[in-house]
Amino acid sequence: MRREDAAKAAPVAPNGDPRWYKDAIIYQLHVKAYRDGDSDGYGDFRGLLDKLDYVQSLGVDCLWLLPFYPSPLRDDGYDIADYKAINPTYGTLDDFQRFLDEAHRRGLRVVTELVINHTSDQHPWFQRARTAPRGSPERDWYVWTDDPNKYAGTRIIFTDTETSNWTWDPVAQQFFWHRFFSHQPDLNFDNPAVLEAVTDAMRFWLDMGVDGLRLDAIPYLVEREGTNCENLPETHAVLKRLRATLDAEYAGRIFLAEANQWPPDVRPYFGDSDECHMAFHFPVMPRMYMAVARQDRTPIVEIMARTPEIPPDCQWAIFLRNHDELTLEMVTDEERDYMYTEYAKDPRMRINVGIRRRLAPLMGNDRRKIELLNTLLMSMPGTPIVYYGDEIGMGDNVFLGDRNGVRTPMQWNGSWNSGFSETDSAALYSPIIVDPPYGFQGVNVMAQERTEASLLRWMRRLIAVRKTTQAFGRGRLEFLHPLNRRVLVFLREHEGDTILVACNLAKSAEAVQLDLSRFAGCTPLEMWSDQPFPPIDETPYALTFGPYGYYWFRIRGDAVADGPGAGVGALEAGQGGGA
Ligand code: BGC
Repeated sequence: MRREDAAKAAPVAPNGDPRWYKDAIIYQLHVKAYRDGDSDGYGDFRGLLDKLDYVQSLGVDCLWLLPFYPSPLRDDGYDIADYKAINPTYGTLDDFQRFLDEAHRRGLRVVTELVINHTSDQHPWFQRARTAPRGSPERDWYVWTDDPNKYAGTRIIFTDTETSNWTWDPVAQQFFWHRFFSHQPDLNFDNPAVLEAVTDAMRFWLDMGVDGLRLDAIPYLVEREGTNCENLPETHAVLKRLRATLDAEYAGRIFLAEANQWPPDVRPYFGDSDECHMAFHFPVMPRMYMAVARQDRTPIVEIMARTPEIPPDCQWAIFLRNHDELTLEMVTDEERDYMYTEYAKDPRMRINVGIRRRLAPLMGNDRRKIELLNTLLMSMPGTPIVYYGDEIGMGDNVFLGDRNGVRTPMQWNGSWNSGFSETDSAALYSPIIVDPPYGFQGVNVMAQERTEASLLRWMRRLIAVRKTTQAFGRGRLEFLHPLNRRVLVFLREHEGDTILVACNLAKSAEAVQLDLSRFAGCTPLEMWSDQPFPPIDETPYALTFGPYGYYWFRIRGDAVADGPGAGVGALEAGQGGGA
């Protein structure tokens, strides 16, 4: 489809359901890092197009692409210099359209980035603003002051590089406001022209047919004296305006909120179903790691207890790792110290308020722990997001600056440049991981395709099993509270389909006794094998686990064992309080 013809066309809807995002499994990748189609050392849309077979083979149904717009790349593309174009290194708008159409043809949806809190200082809007006279409409597109003590109650996010949220601009002869790097001035949402311009940018990509937009850094859109300048009502008003446009003009598309906040502060980003469809659940992420390190389910159970209900058509997005540091902003000081001690012993592994490592190294490359965490990712409430490369257990490189150590080229095979690019190794945007045990010669897609027990093949199976029920994406959550806290047990239930998830967070073999009496007469079917376990009766139900072992059971009534969830009645109340 040509670009102009794509305008307003509804994206392909594999299941025709406007709530598709509730059943989705998202795969996050950087075009730059995936596959170089023109041998210049950078991944591009041509390369990505060639790899759609692989993406599809994972069983995921949605791609989230990191920013691919023209940019000086001082924040890996989150510093945008033009909202309506493609960075030429990654291809052309036609390449993007070709990729998008092909993804849609395969039933894959595509979510892209809408980064509106700030632009690059190279953006023409900023260049115009700094040269325009004070008080002029052009200057007013950004946030300026003569007094850098303004908004003093606002925290600094990039603590390793920035000492203030204000930076002096010698051209404008004023300070400009920035919540991130000092080359990323924040747009001024008190100026209606700014909202109009970013709405225009949003329409541009929706007209091309993208299925959703990740709204980057949205808690910080508006500033007010005497506040911490986060989550302000004025910011929510901006989001409601954007959502109104989306709903009025683009059916079936979604917003995904990046609001790294505590659950009660994230809740308003769903609004009354009139802001974002989805929001990342930041606080549960480090707690999954904490639960495994402490061998205790309490951190997970507690944070979910503190997670408010969200409107029925809204959804959490959950993840283990992404392109940023594993953020530790949403934990207590004590918990942060604990996480650093457990997971970032080498100071090089730390950046800002977080840890710059990938999943496999965080888990000490212990396959059992990697599986356990992925099992949690796929069974906790929300839509799971898999970060590219984690499906094969890629490693990281803490010697690269910023967060680049978790953004290295995808490892396709054991040949030249890991099959990522045909150019000289020295010309690659980033070195490939070469050292054992994560080096590309050993850890790569091809090797894992050829190995029956590989992580890749296990991940495919995990995703396939998850997709046999809508209960993981849509079901309600209920924790059980057996005495042994090393074991995490919960039920997911949706329209009569009941799933029991049980996992051992400990490095030791463990046993647990569960009160499943409400299911007396039913049989747990182990979901990976479809094998029945002993039937449930009124007595405590015993389960034993190897280290880091896990089970997913579908609970079935014996009499009607031939339909998903058949015969299972509604769940009764939980089993008392505590973790
Ligand atoms: C992105 C980061 C980026 C920051 C500033 C974030 O939330 O995930 O990668 O550095 O926004 O744009």
